[in-house]
Amino acid sequence: MIQVACGIDIGGSGVKGALVDLDTGEYIGDQIRIPTPNPATPDAVAKVCRELVDQLDVKVGVPIGVTFPAPVFDGVVPYMANLDQSWVDVDVRALMESHLGRAVVPLNDADAAGIAEVAYGAAKGRDGVIVFTTQGTGIGSAIIVNGTLLTNTELGHLEIDGHDAEKMASAGQKTLQGLDWEQWAKRLQRYYGHVEFLLNPDLFVVGGGVSENHDKFMPLLDLKTPMIPAKLLNTAGIVGAAYYAARQS
Ligand code: BGC
Repeated sequence: MIQVACGIDIGGSGVKGALVDLDTGEYIGDQIRIPTPNPATPDAVAKVCRELVDQLDVKVGVPIGVTFPAPVFDGVVPYMANLDQSWVDVDVRALMESHLGRAVVPLNDADAAGIAEVAYGAAKGRDGVIVFTTQGTGIGSAIIVNGTLLTNTELGHLEIDGHDAEKMASAGQKTLQGLDWEQWAKRLQRYYGHVEFLLNPDLFVVGGGVSENHDKFMPLLDLKTPMIPAKLLNTAGIVGAAYYAARQS
């Protein structure tokens, strides 16, 4: 059984990495963060990932998972909502492997965070249909059914009332549009009400920085499905990437 893996989480403002203890889901040593290069082209970001792996001194044979803020089909990013458009159609597995000189498991950022919450966090040990959403600039989603991840769901891009859902109901839009908690909760009600109607999940888990303020918006929602905040917060992407990579190795 593999005990240690490395997770790298590529975000709009930072690229973060750490070694993860797979028994506990905790970091071994410190997380390293390098600002996302501008422009955030694939080559520039891959160089930063190499820098992280070198700084973390990741030994050969330790699995490495890398998250992207986009779906990853067979190693390839088909579209990119919130990072440089030059990522579209890039084989990110091949790109990362050429820069890192070893096998890399690429995956969607929300898939990583969702699976981490089920393995170690708020939804640990929960069966049934779990819909995890991460609230940030966009809305990312992960669906986990009895512990199995249904990869690459894109519930942030549901079209609701003629809008791309994340342009209406993400935490990023709350900030951009200066919405107060009540105004934002109305949009969340419409959004999660629709997801609930489509999927009838057993549990919603909400992640992203805003979930620290869950008491400001969750009580304002009227849903059949129980909703709980994520537990791992900042570490979820890295921990999930490491966990997923180890299971693919
Ligand atoms: C992307 C998803 C991603 C989410 C959070 C969305 O715009 O399409 O793939 O998980 O943002 O980064």
